[in-house]
Amino acid sequence: MPAEIPQQLVDPIEAHPHFHRTESKIAIAGHPVHAMLVAFPVAMAFCALGADGFYWLTGDIFWARAGLWASGMAFLFGVLAGISGTVELLLVPGIRKRAASWSHFIFAVMLLSVLGANWGYRLGGYEQAVLPWGILVSALAVGATALTGWHGGKLVFDYHIGTSSKGR
Ligand code: HEM
Repeated sequence: MPAEIPQQLVDPIEAHPHFHRTESKIAIAGHPVHAMLVAFPVAMAFCALGADGFYWLTGDIFWARAGLWASGMAFLFGVLAGISGTVELLLVPGIRKRAASWSHFIFAVMLLSVLGANWGYRLGGYEQAVLPWGILVSALAVGATALTGWHGGKLVFDYHIGTSSKGR
């Protein structure tokens, strides 16, 4: 006798009672801190590549120093953003249960290691560091930032993670 086919297939992850509890807990008056912080590493990573490009074009040491500061701020604000995101990931059950949140975490940790390498390499001599390796690592950091940021946006816009249900 063939086994009976259920009328509707149920995803055991989606069926979990807390699956739709995705509201941000690390928030100020309901506004997620992570979303506020991520703008800084994103902008600073692009600024570091811009500064390296201007140094390459002009040879002006000002741009090498700007690259040192931009790469340092990208890393430090990236770590702060990473801490707020990780606490959110671990505390909010509906975020923790989604595979997409963990993919974002993996992209983000890879990004933070590239941002850290970009800054750390320059600390030993910021002018000599720019060409060729500094600018190449900055370009890698911009690519990793784009991937991580785009995927973070997917979490919010596609999966409604970290959003509020008040207006619905
Ligand atoms: C290291 C661990 C990280 C974790 C666990 C994490 C987790 C999250 C989570 C749960 C969200 C959904 C919104 C929220 O709940 O606040 C999110 C959104 C986002 N994340 Fe991350 N994140 C991390 C690092 C980063 C970094 C370093 C960046 C920098 C590029 C980044 C970029 C974004 C962006 C752009 C969004 C969308 C924000 C919005 O449009 O509101 N994340 N992340």
